[in-house]
Amino acid sequence: MAEGQILRLRGFEVRRGWLNPGAQAAVLNDLRAVIRAAPLVHPVTAGGRQMSVRMTSAGRLGWVSDAAGYRYAPRHPSGVDWPPIPDSILEIWRALGPDRLPDCCLINFYGEGARMGLHQDRDEGEFQWPVISLSLGDEGLFRMGNVEKGGKTESVWLQSGDVVVMGGAARLAHHGVDRIRFGSSRLMPKGGRVNVTLRVVGSRGEGAAS
Ligand code: SIN
Ligand code: FE2
Repeated sequence: MAEGQILRLRGFEVRRGWLNPGAQAAVLNDLRAVIRAAPLVHPVTAGGRQMSVRMTSAGRLGWVSDAAGYRYAPRHPSGVDWPPIPDSILEIWRALGPDRLPDCCLINFYGEGARMGLHQDRDEGEFQWPVISLSLGDEGLFRMGNVEKGGKTESVWLQSGDVVVMGGAARLAHHGVDRIRFGSSRLMPKGGRVNVTLRVVGSRGEGAAS
């Protein structure tokens, strides 16, 4: 944990260098164990398009997407339970989030050329809790917009160790990742970017497809 620079952009709170390189490597190790138990999958959108990002989750619930839509599911598509959220990641929530602990830790892996279009995180059913994100590995160009579709946006390059708190006015704001600078970080020997987001999922978010 660090007293790094804080950027406030459109209600998004960007904590630069929240994790130092040693802590980043420790989190990555814990994520490798999660991925061994619950492998990364290439989700397909309800419209039948394959996402360029690969995903898995830890926690009581995991975010999944397939022909049936987006939803939080109690198990990985293979049928195994999601592994518990590693303590090294919960520590970030404990420092920056509310007492209510997250139900889901969504893990996104961006390989070369992967991106994520502008979207809202709104499958959780309850929006009074923040979503907290940690970036590891290669830099990613994070775009932040508005709750409504369209309008002005602002972008910031997120670096390994940066944490973003999306709460309050930013909780339902559109956001996405335009591109990554593949190979810009040495954290992962083969390159790539990992982003983990911690989310509270209310009973209305559980199982309901959007
Ligand atoms: C997300 O919105 O789920 C991911 C954001 C990011 O990769 O920084
Ligand atoms: Fe998101």
